[in-house]
Amino acid sequence: MAVFCWGLSLLLCAHAHLQPVDSLPVYQIIQQAERQTTAYLSAYPDSARFLHSQSSDGKAIRVGMHGWTAGFFPGKLWYLYAFTRNPFWEQQALSYTLALSADDTLTSTHDLGFMVGIPFEKAYAFTHQPALREVLIRAGRSLSRRFHPIVGEIKSWDGGPWHYPVIVDNLMNLELLFRATALTGDSSFYRIAVSHIDHDLRYRFRPDYSTYHVLDYDPHTGRLLARKTWQGYADSSCWSRGQAWAIYGLTVAYRYTRNPRYLFYARHAADYFLHQLSRYQEPIPPWDFNAPDSLRKLKDVSAAAIAASALLELQGYVPAGSSARYRHAAEVILRALSASPYRTTDDAHSYFLLLHATGDAHHHREMDVPLIYADYYYLQALWRYTHMHAADFFL
Ligand code: GLY
Repeated sequence: MAVFCWGLSLLLCAHAHLQPVDSLPVYQIIQQAERQTTAYLSAYPDSARFLHSQSSDGKAIRVGMHGWTAGFFPGKLWYLYAFTRNPFWEQQALSYTLALSADDTLTSTHDLGFMVGIPFEKAYAFTHQPALREVLIRAGRSLSRRFHPIVGEIKSWDGGPWHYPVIVDNLMNLELLFRATALTGDSSFYRIAVSHIDHDLRYRFRPDYSTYHVLDYDPHTGRLLARKTWQGYADSSCWSRGQAWAIYGLTVAYRYTRNPRYLFYARHAADYFLHQLSRYQEPIPPWDFNAPDSLRKLKDVSAAAIAASALLELQGYVPAGSSARYRHAAEVILRALSASPYRTTDDAHSYFLLLHATGDAHHHREMDVPLIYADYYYLQALWRYTHMHAADFFL
């Protein structure tokens, strides 16, 4: 089948600019992802549902188009296409991307960057179809509607025990707004993103540069009411994926604004993350850096993959010494992810490259399972690692 016949052409033509990857088996990893995804597509051919996780008895767990993780599966397909240039993957990626088109008018979620931004940016970059650009702009408008001028930030969740919750994850969805300004010339999207970050930075970090998960505001006055967790171990602890979202989101914000304050916080968030890893001599973080010893065994490969990808961008914005340190850290993380026990060896039964992610241990959900966003950021990090000086580094 054509899907498997790409190895030699990859080496010789489409990716002649690939850098040496002696320490990472990137080609084998992409071939493994192709095998797994081909198996998944033949077992579950319905493009109205999106791969999210897998049960212990091997069944795919999927979400509908309104699930916050729906955009990662098409995102992963776009990386398969980027690495292989096999038209089969482009066709699959486009089909799953287009199945999310109607999400662009959703105003009930802050996750439009994940759901729409991720797949449609790539679809637009590869195909230049004007309709894809329109989806991105509409999604930017929908996300803007969740902005409240008194609070100065986008509201993350509706409902729940909160007044006006803003979560650290929300930083990830601001890229959609920066892109909407770049695509339209309308600076209102950009101004919302910057307001969100500036307000957020007042309260998001502790003095040691670990992050709080949820900031809850009074929507009538904009006053901060509480700093809480929802997915971490405790209000006073540092949820590792939240910290990774902060590194990534603030690094992206620096890319679009060149505001040194954002870089300052991105670096300190990264330094906290790496300090925690080195303190415990573990390249893959536990789900919460401050979880008690009995719960530290529970890892989160998604936090590791997100951080690795972010570090590979961040290293480009800092002086040489720090740059080498971030690059090295990303490589150490990627090498750990690429080997047992984190990368699966059981191709026959796994639709995922990475095992041992944790979605929400606070609520005893999705503990030690594969998760699509772990695979997505892992592939993105591998892409960045092999395209450090390429024009398409930001895919
Ligand atoms: N954005 C949801 C999560 O990281 O679990």
